Amino acid sequence: MSKLFSTSLLSGAAALVGLGLATGGALAQTEVKIGYALSPDSHYGVAAAKFEEVVEAETDGKFEFKHFPSSGLGGEREVIEGLQIGTIEATIVSSGTLSNFVPETGVVDIPFLFRDLGHARRVLDGPVGQEILVKFDDVGLHALAWGEQGFRHITNNRNQITQPSDVEGLKIRTMENPVHLEAFETLGAAPTPMAWPEVVSSLQQGVIDGQENPLSVIVSVKLNEVQKYLTLSGHVYSPAILLVSKPFWDGLSDEDKAAFEKGATEAVAAMRAFVDEVEESGVATLKERGMDVGELSPEQKAAFQQAVQPAYESYYEQYDKSVIDRIIATE
Ligand code: PAF
Repeated sequence: MSKLFSTSLLSGAAALVGLGLATGGALAQTEVKIGYALSPDSHYGVAAAKFEEVVEAETDGKFEFKHFPSSGLGGEREVIEGLQIGTIEATIVSSGTLSNFVPETGVVDIPFLFRDLGHARRVLDGPVGQEILVKFDDVGLHALAWGEQGFRHITNNRNQITQPSDVEGLKIRTMENPVHLEAFETLGAAPTPMAWPEVVSSLQQGVIDGQENPLSVIVSVKLNEVQKYLTLSGHVYSPAILLVSKPFWDGLSDEDKAAFEKGATEAVAAMRAFVDEVEESGVATLKERGMDVGELSPEQKAAFQQAVQPAYESYYEQYDKSVIDRIIATE
């Protein structure tokens, strides 16, 4: 009897040690590797830090975040694939390669579709955006929220741009995004889809003349060091998305899921506030750094819109026209 008693005491103590309680130590934390393409002081870095802060506060530090900024885990496509197989837990990515995973996301990449940041945010936070988010669960991913980068603008080393003919033959890097690729082909440019980690060196070596990204990216990456001209073309809105691995998500308790959802909501608010600020200050910063900055007038922008029209035929074939109409009709 006494042997039985001491054995059960011992196994109970072992269980407590295993839980880290008997020694007064902390509970083992679950690691969350979060990868993103930009630096810690970018809109992605700020959002990732807020995400961690909220999840940590809501779960009493149950999760240990490990950040991999500046493409530390590879290009966006590779990182998303890592989430699918469960080797990476979370990421913040652009819409660049998303339509290769969930084809319906391509609709948000159509040029000149969103009128301004407010319009885009209302669409993405509303029914159209949320209907797209749920589709990620079918492909090994779980989408927590839409974030954003701002409107994309063209930078290059060849010439300032005021009319569509100025981009003719321009070797411009696009994201690995069929909608963007088609738009630049339609404009007569020579677009090259390329993963982000190769872009800066390709610009430096003159493999490409230019690229396009929002002010948030141009400022944080200091693209002024490798690009002379910035044209505020605002040709397309650039959303971002906060994704977690589906295998990871499925292993969370309901309380932990609620903590991650709250973290994502606050992360997106921080990201959008950052974008608002850089949209205000970014042009002055880039001029100070020596960039030649031009802005398309409404008439010049309309000429680009007109020139890209032929691509719309194929967009209407690929994407549900009623979704495009709902986006346009969103107040
Ligand atoms: O151009 C891109 O690929 C994206 O906008 C970037 C810079 C990787 C941010 O997601």
